[in-house]
Amino acid sequence: MDRSSMRRSVRDLTMYYNPKVGSALRMDTNTNVLGSNPAASEYLKNLKLDLNGYPNTYSDGLRDALADLYGLKRENFVAGNGSDEMLNTIYTTFTEPGASCTVPVPSYSLYSYLVSLASGKLREVDLTEDFQLDVDAMVGKGEETNSVLIMPTPNNPTGNCFRQKDIEEILAKHPGIVILDEAYSEYARNTMISKVDEFDNLIVCKTFSKAYAMANLRVGYCASNLKVADMLNSVKVPYSLNSVSEGAAIAAVKDQDFIKRSVDMVSEQRPRLSKKLKEMGFEPYPSDSNFILAKSPIDHVKMIEGLEKRNVLIRDFGSKRRTENCVRMTVGTEELNKIMTDAMEDVLAEEKI
Ligand SMILES: Cc1ncc(COP(=O)(O)O)c(C=O)c1O
Repeated sequence: MDRSSMRRSVRDLTMYYNPKVGSALRMDTNTNVLGSNPAASEYLKNLKLDLNGYPNTYSDGLRDALADLYGLKRENFVAGNGSDEMLNTIYTTFTEPGASCTVPVPSYSLYSYLVSLASGKLREVDLTEDFQLDVDAMVGKGEETNSVLIMPTPNNPTGNCFRQKDIEEILAKHPGIVILDEAYSEYARNTMISKVDEFDNLIVCKTFSKAYAMANLRVGYCASNLKVADMLNSVKVPYSLNSVSEGAAIAAVKDQDFIKRSVDMVSEQRPRLSKKLKEMGFEPYPSDSNFILAKSPIDHVKMIEGLEKRNVLIRDFGSKRRTENCVRMTVGTEELNKIMTDAMEDVLAEEKI
């Protein structure tokens, strides 16, 4: 067998980011630096498990907890194995083979992979100079653009939120499904999830991998009006969310104090980290999230490799169009930011010799 035996739409796919980690400080994944979610950890400690039974088919317990949190109904929600599974389900549900799926550039690299899995045609639209939406270009014209359109807000890797009026204009003008990927919305203290019933075409995707500090348990969900949620639940792989992760997520939803503490910490540390980066010669972009994208003062590969040698991982975006020579790092606690920026200073000092 060679790769020509693969379906044409997935033939060029390659494996995802998979760094050698060891004991390195991970500032490359935008997860919560305060450590494992405490309520979820407590739930897991006391768990008695029946391994022989299937989990609840559509994670009703978690969907009820989310309905309480956002003032919606259980039937507004779809839950599953990370928001990546939710995105995959949405593209599978709404993309005809060959249909154009609109994705902003730069944004989350997995979107193009998911469009390929659904045999869609990737329609990439550049963000403006300040990484905002180009509304007219996103909406486009005619049949060619009527499939799924996605917008991550705050955007990854740029960190900023899109303007609410632009999001709403796109929702009004795009004839197909619009996904708002809110993986980092807790940090921006801004979500459209409670408004899903007001729109015919809006799906809001969210995750337990970031502010909720549970990436290892793979829990994500999306919300939409009742008709769209029913379509998605009928396509989603049944049982994809195991009961261990579901129970931990329910416990985590009920501990909003931890989320507040996590978000407050980032709000306090983000401007300090940004200031320190500027002092070192980086050019950081404004962020509403728990990470910062910044142009490196030296070659991005030298920065990334220099930090790796010092046991600190940040993410390299320097070879990609629109983020030339940029790196992206998680906002840490004061202590973690010091370890990271000390290592950066060390790399810069070595490079200047
Ligand atoms: C914008 C965005 N959406 C979705 C995800 C995936 O989240 P999950 O871990 O729930 O699959 C990520 C993860 O990095 C992300 O950055």
